[in-house]
Amino acid sequence: MKKRSILWILLALTLALQGCIQIPPSTGDGTGTEPGTIGGNTPHPYHQTVQYTYQTAVNEEALMTGADGTYLVLANKSFPIGENYHPQNLVALTCNTTYDMKLDACAAGALYEMLEEMEAAGITDLYVTSAYRSYTYQQQLYQKYLNIELSGISEEAYECLGYDYIQTHYLNTGKSKLSVEDAKRVVLSYSAYPGTSEHQTGLCVDFITPDMGGMLTTAFEQTEAFAWLRENAYKFGFILRYPKEKESITGYTYEPWHYRFVGREVATDIYFGGLTLEQYLGK
Ligand code: DAL
Ligand code: ZN
Repeated sequence: MKKRSILWILLALTLALQGCIQIPPSTGDGTGTEPGTIGGNTPHPYHQTVQYTYQTAVNEEALMTGADGTYLVLANKSFPIGENYHPQNLVALTCNTTYDMKLDACAAGALYEMLEEMEAAGITDLYVTSAYRSYTYQQQLYQKYLNIELSGISEEAYECLGYDYIQTHYLNTGKSKLSVEDAKRVVLSYSAYPGTSEHQTGLCVDFITPDMGGMLTTAFEQTEAFAWLRENAYKFGFILRYPKEKESITGYTYEPWHYRFVGREVATDIYFGGLTLEQYLGK
């Protein structure tokens, strides 16, 4: 090797050790677990330096994921998973839920660890109100919202969407009803078209607390549970999937209640990098 090349290598190594160059995270087996590039940069591997601390005896194995990319599946408007996507490893949730529901086994294991930690922190009023949703169920949900928006200001709309929503979207705008086109556009900002919902992957949950009156609204932001999740969810492999001011990337309005399991390492890189899953994957 030429003397000059050796000097360049030594300089690069020195810069890397000083943190001036980002050493890419260890790559998987090439089947999808590797992060993408954002503006030519690989997401920073924060997980390599973060010290994970827990109050309870957490089974850290339960928070990791394999290297097959299963837990990084992307389901959104640009990357539909379609009618025939069926998660293979669903289990019935045994934590507090608002009805019987299922979730991917690995995501469920991590969720239980997280809920125990929350309990130790005094947060005991958290319920899962949605987990895995089949294509057919998502179809019904989407249609239900579409019908409600088409009905305009109705009793059902108040019941389902809440007073604040009606005020913002109808009363304040002077509209009492939407055209079919507008109704579709509005619904698609908060409810996924069948075949595109992340809930169909079995890898995400919606949380609710009893004081939210049965409605998923940004009131969840005011709960102790949200404050805890904001600081700690990544330690358990979960990310806030639809953050504020990322609507143009995720395609959905802010959902403080929706958490997606991606495994602890990826969740850490996404959390500290201020990324969305789309940005992490470079999609
Ligand atoms: N509310 C989310 C975007 C869904 O319907 O999947
Ligand atoms: Zn959700």
